[in-house]
Amino acid sequence: MSQSNKLILVIGATGVQGRAVIDALLAPGPDGTTSPYSVRALTRNFDSRSAKELAAIKKVELFQGSFTDAGAIYRALEGCYGAFVNTDGSTEEIVDTRSTKGGNARNSRGGCRGFGVRIGF
Ligand SMILES: NC(=O)c1ccc[n+]([C@@H]2O[C@H](COP(=O)([O-])OP(=O)(O)OC[C@H]3O[C@@H](n4cnc5c(N)ncnc54)[C@H](OP(=O)(O)O)[C@@H]3O)[C@@H](O)[C@H]2O)c1
Repeated sequence: MSQSNKLILVIGATGVQGRAVIDALLAPGPDGTTSPYSVRALTRNFDSRSAKELAAIKKVELFQGSFTDAGAIYRALEGCYGAFVNTDGSTEEIVDTRSTKGGNARNSRGGCRGFGVRIGF
């Protein structure tokens, strides 16, 4: 992957925390240099106001899926340089019925390791 286009998967992208992370990732450097990052924003709902706002931002692509679905996380991580993972702690222990691993954070951590991407929580 080009060092000038580092794709970052943001889980929780449409939330308060995720949006702040996205804005920081895409902001120019202190010397005005263009951000090296682009963003893949995970959301369950493309039709929400916050998802539509993200879709309108250059260098952001939406990806539909739930962090309870390990398969969706693996697909979302394809081609990514890194990931910012912000799951809901209260549902962390929900077991994904399509995964033997279980747990949203574990889905995400396991997926990131599998794809060799950098991870931030
Ligand atoms: N806000 C703060 O200042 C703050 C500070 C410290 C920690 N936190 C923690 O950070 C987490 C998020 O906080 P927030 O304030 O950003 O929440 P928020 O504004 O309510 O946003 C929740 C986010 O989680 C996503 N989400 C929820 N369930 C999902 C699922 N099953 N699959 C995929 N995405 C899912 C939502 O995406 P969609 O609805 O688009 O799918 C949305 O992006 C919470 O655990 C909170 O306790 C927040």
